Order: sequence, then structure tokens, then C-alpha cells
Amino acid sequence: MLATPLQIGPLRLETNLLLAPIAGWCDLAWRMTVRQLGGVGLACTDLLSPVGLLCGSEATADLARTNDFDKPIGMQLYGSDPALLAEGARWCVDRGATVVDINMGCPVDKVCKKDGGSKLMTIPETAVAIADAVRRAIPDNVPVTAKMRLGWTEADAGKNVAGVLACRLVEAGAAAITVHGRTTEQRFKGNVRREGIRRVVETVGERFGAYDGTAVGGPAVIGNGDVRTPDDVLDMIGQTGCAGVMIGRGAFARPWIFRQAWAMQTTGDEGRVEESEKLDTVLYYFNRLREFRGDANALFKLGQKISWLGKDINGSHCRPLKDAIREARSADDVYSAVQEWRELSVRSGAQNLSEPVGIADE
Ligand SMILES: Cc1cc2nc3c(=O)[nH]c(=O)nc-3n(C[C@H](O)[C@H](O)[C@H](O)COP(=O)(O)O)c2cc1C
Repeated sequence: MLATPLQIGPLRLETNLLLAPIAGWCDLAWRMTVRQLGGVGLACTDLLSPVGLLCGSEATADLARTNDFDKPIGMQLYGSDPALLAEGARWCVDRGATVVDINMGCPVDKVCKKDGGSKLMTIPETAVAIADAVRRAIPDNVPVTAKMRLGWTEADAGKNVAGVLACRLVEAGAAAITVHGRTTEQRFKGNVRREGIRRVVETVGERFGAYDGTAVGGPAVIGNGDVRTPDDVLDMIGQTGCAGVMIGRGAFARPWIFRQAWAMQTTGDEGRVEESEKLDTVLYYFNRLREFRGDANALFKLGQKISWLGKDINGSHCRPLKDAIREARSADDVYSAVQEWRELSVRSGAQNLSEPVGIADE
């Protein structure tokens, strides 16, 4: 097997797999939940406003909250003012960031209207000035990375805007580039175009030398988009030549995908995830939410996310469990719901538990 842990500038990760920033999901509770299952080389915060960080916004600081277990951690900044992002980057490093990432892929109007997110792909001078300012602002041992799309429009993708910008960002000091294989116009629709990611890999390789898994070779390009299974990871690497794979939504239903995909790459076998471990994962997540956000918010958040978290429990046949969690009014209700489902699983020994309880699947 050819799998190599990812090298991002001076930083060597344990695997070549990264947890993507997903606003509304990727808080400390979720990152810890995914990490404790294994296989995560690097996780990232949601996008952070440097103004929010520097003005002491509690909500932004909460998004940036980390701890010793949550390492290595990338903190992602968005915006268009190089000096402000540089100051934000220093804030992040002072609060424990292992990597500082610059968002160049967010398609949301609120962000793009102020020239941040993927709008930066259309104003490369500003994008480069940001990478340069952030690089200069923080110590050399903290890599700067950027996450982008294939370009704003189809025509941009055709012109390899991402490959050209990636090279300029590396010249300005970026140690790795993540490419989500869609344009901004596509938002999250349509298929991810792996050939577009491949083009960026090739362009960066031609300019700086091929990535060779060490700090000596060219910079890493990380492939992202629509990776749902360990096989998708192999395909992404095989079809693009990318050095690492970033996974976002695929982890909602399979937070163990990182462990499985790393096992698949290193041993050829993704291994099994027992049903009991899936339930333990729901509880681990709930307990972290309780710890960091208090019971009311933990109940609300778990209720919001259980549809996703349940998609791989008992082959997605777990409607009674999901309903009970959504209806839970106290932490004990959640523990009882999970315990009842656990006992039912053990008793029935079946894969399809919707039958014994007689409730149709969603
Ligand atoms: C709800 C949602 C929120 C997202 N938030 C961020 C973000 O804060 N920063 C970022 O760089 N990308 C963000 N993304 C994009 C993801 O990181 C990722 O590039 C995209 O979902 C494709 O990868 P996936 O198919 O593995 O999810 C978000 C995507 C979604 C669906």
C-alpha cells in the first residue's frame, strides 16, 4: 500500500485525511467525536471572522475553542483585508492553531459581497496579499494553507484559475492548497470534477516539483468533495494524484470514515464498525455537547443532527431511535433512548431493527 501521512510544510500529520470545515457542524464537540474514532490527520474549525475574534465576540471565540485532544487543528479565517487576517492569524496561533487556513471557497453572498470567500478567486492580487500577510504574521512552524474551488465560473475552471492561483499562493508562502472540485456557481450542485482537481495537482507539481510526502518535495494539494466511502478516498487519490483527502459531509453519517479509509489505504481492509460503537459515538458527541454547550443546547443540536448520525446505524433503519432522541426533553431521555435501542439490537441480533418495533423506515 502506498499511503503516506501528509506533510504540510514543516508539519507531519498522522494520516493523509482531513476533516473539512463545515459551518454549523465542525465545533469542538464534533471534531473530538470524529478524532476519537481514529484516522483524522487534521481537523479544521468552521470559518472564523477575524473581526469577531479580535472584538472578543463570544460566538466566534466559541467556534475557535480547542483543547489538547483537538490537535493538530487548523483554524480557518475569512475576509479580504490582509492586515486584519494577519492579526486574526496571530490570535489563532496564540490560542493554539497548528495551521492557519484562508477561506477562498465560500460561495455565500454575505461573505462574497465583502470580497471574502470564493470571491477572492476573482481578485487574485488580494488573495495573494492575504497569504503573504498571514505568512509574515505568524511563526514559520505554523503552516498557512488555503481552501478554494475550481474558480467562480465554468469559464474560470476551463482557464485553470485554481491552478494558477494555487501557484501564486504557494509563492506567497502557502504550504498546502485544498481544492473543492466545484465552481462557485455550482455551489454544492452537480458532481465534483476530479479532473479539475487533477489539473491543479499537475500545475502545482510542474511549477514546484511533485509532492513526494516529505518537506523537500513540492507542496501538497488536497482533494475535496463528495467523498462518502473509503473507496471514494482511493478514487480521489487515484484519479487526481492529490496528496491528501478532505472529507466534510461524508463524516456526518460515517464519522469513522477516516479510520476506515486509512485502514483501507494501509492494510487493504476498511474493518468493521460494530453497531455498539455507532451508539457509543452518538453518546460521545452528546456528552461533549453537554460539556461545552450545556444540556438545552446539546439536546437541540443532537435533535438537529440525529437524522445524519443515524444514517449508518442499523443500515439506517433506526427511526424509533431518531424519534426518541428528537423528542428527548432531558439528558436522561437521550441515555434511555440509546440504551433501549442497544438492548433491542442485542436481543434481536438483526440488522434491520425497524421490523421488531414495527415502525416503517424513513
Ligand atoms: C453547510 C456547509 C457549511 C460549510 N462551511 C464551510 C466553511 O466554514 N469553510 C469552508 O472552507 N468550507 C465550508 N463548506 C464546504 C466544505 O468544507 C466542503 O468543501 C464541501 O462540503 C465539499 O466537501 P464534502 O462533499 O466532503 O462535504 C461547507 C459546506 C457545507 C455543506
